[in-house]
Amino acid sequence: MKEYLERRKKLISKMPKNSLAIIFGSNSLIRNGDVEFPFRQNSDFFYLTGFEEPNAVAIIESDDSGEFTIFCQDKDPSKEQWEGNRMGPKNCKNIGAKEGFSIEVFSEEISNFLINKERIYYQKDLNNSLEDIVNKNIAMLKKTTSRSNNFVPEEIHSIDSLLHEIRLLKTKEEIKIIRKACEISSAAHIRAMKNVYPEMYEYQLEAEYVHEFMKNGAKACAYPSIVGGGKNACILHYNENKDQLLDGDLVLVDAGCEFKGYASDITRTFPINGKFSKAQEAVYEIVLEANKECIKTVRKNFTPNDTEKKAVEIITQGLLDLNILNGEIKELIERKAYHDFYMHRVGHWMGMDVHDVGSYGLNGNWRKYLPGMITTIEPGIYFKQDLKNVPKEFLNIGIRIEDDVLVTDGDPEVLTSSVPKDLKKVESIMRS
Ligand code: GLY
Ligand code: MN
Ligand code: MN
Repeated sequence: MKEYLERRKKLISKMPKNSLAIIFGSNSLIRNGDVEFPFRQNSDFFYLTGFEEPNAVAIIESDDSGEFTIFCQDKDPSKEQWEGNRMGPKNCKNIGAKEGFSIEVFSEEISNFLINKERIYYQKDLNNSLEDIVNKNIAMLKKTTSRSNNFVPEEIHSIDSLLHEIRLLKTKEEIKIIRKACEISSAAHIRAMKNVYPEMYEYQLEAEYVHEFMKNGAKACAYPSIVGGGKNACILHYNENKDQLLDGDLVLVDAGCEFKGYASDITRTFPINGKFSKAQEAVYEIVLEANKECIKTVRKNFTPNDTEKKAVEIITQGLLDLNILNGEIKELIERKAYHDFYMHRVGHWMGMDVHDVGSYGLNGNWRKYLPGMITTIEPGIYFKQDLKNVPKEFLNIGIRIEDDVLVTDGDPEVLTSSVPKDLKKVESIMRS
C-alpha cells in the first residue's frame, strides 16, 4: 500500500492547490452472450490505488496527504456467490482510502467534491457516462452557486501529462516486477525455440508461451501473441496464429506476459527446422546489428530519435549491401527508401501498458532518456510477397528482434538478455 501512497503523493505534488483528480477504473466488458472478457483494471487507476475491482472511481484532492476517496461496487452476497468477493465501500480502509461510497451514488455525491475547487483533472474520453455525470454536475453547480460565495471548477484538464510523466519513470519496486515479467517471457521464448517443429500449427507454438507464462505466475499476456510463420511474419500485428509452420520458413514470435500488472514485450525470429538458410541469415544479421547498436544508444543524453536514426542507418546500409536498394545512403535515408521494408518505429516506452504512457518529446524537442525509463528496441525487416525488385529468395522473410531495455546511470540494462539472439546461439539452443 505504501507504494500506492507514494504515487498519489507524487501526483498531488504536481497538482496546484485546490484541485481535484477524478480517476476512473475500467468496467467489465461483455465478450458474447452473458460471458465477460477477463477483467483488466485501467492502468492509471491501478497505479494509484492497487484496487482491482470493476466499476470504481478514485477521488484525490490536492490538499490531502495522499489519502483518497473511493466509489466502488456495493457488497452483494448473491452476486458475490457467482462473481467473487467484493470489498464494499465500508471496507475502503483495506486499500488505504479515507472514505468509501457506493458507485451507485456517484452522481449525487460528486458535487460535494467539485464545489469550491478551482480545477479538475481526469482521464478524458475514458468513461463517457461518468465524464457526463461530472460535466452535468459542474453545469448544475454553476447555476446553484451563482450569486453566492461558492464557486465551481473553471478549468478542466486531462490528467495525462501529470500522471504519465510519473509513470514514465519506474521505481525500484516496479523495475523488480518488470524484470520478473521479462524473465518469465524469456523462458517462454527459449521453451518455444526448443519445441517448435515443421508442420506444427502457429497456435500450438503459442500454447508453449501460455504454458510457460502461467506456470510461472503470469496469468495474462501483455498483448495478443503474434506467431507468424513464413509470410505471416510480414504482417506486423498478425495474431490469428492459425497456419501451419513449414519446413524451411522462419517463425516470428512477438509474445510477452503481464506479471502483477506490468508488461514484457519480446520478439524473436527463428528457423522452424532449426537452421537458417543463407538468405534468412543475411537479413537476420542486419536486424541483429540494428538491435545491438540501437541498444547502445539507450543511455543518458541520448534521445529516442537518436535510437531511431541508428536503426534507419543500419537497415538502409544493410539493404544496400543486399543490393535491394541502390544509391547514396544519405539520399536513400532522406527519401525514406527503407520504408517498404521497415515501416514501424524502433521502440516505445514499456510499463503497465505494453505501449506505455509518457511523451517522447518535451517543448518541441525529443526528450532525453533518464534512468528508470524502459523502452523496447525492436528493429525489423519485412519482405512482403508482392515487392518489386527484391530477389525471390528474400520474399516472404519477415524478421524482428525485440528486447526491453532499462535506462540506468551507466550502460543500458537489457532485461530480456537471457533469450539468445545471436544466430549460432539460437541454432544451438534449438538443437538442445
Ligand atoms: N508487441 C507489440 C509491439 O511490439 O509493439
Ligand atoms: Mn512486441
Ligand atoms: Mn514492442
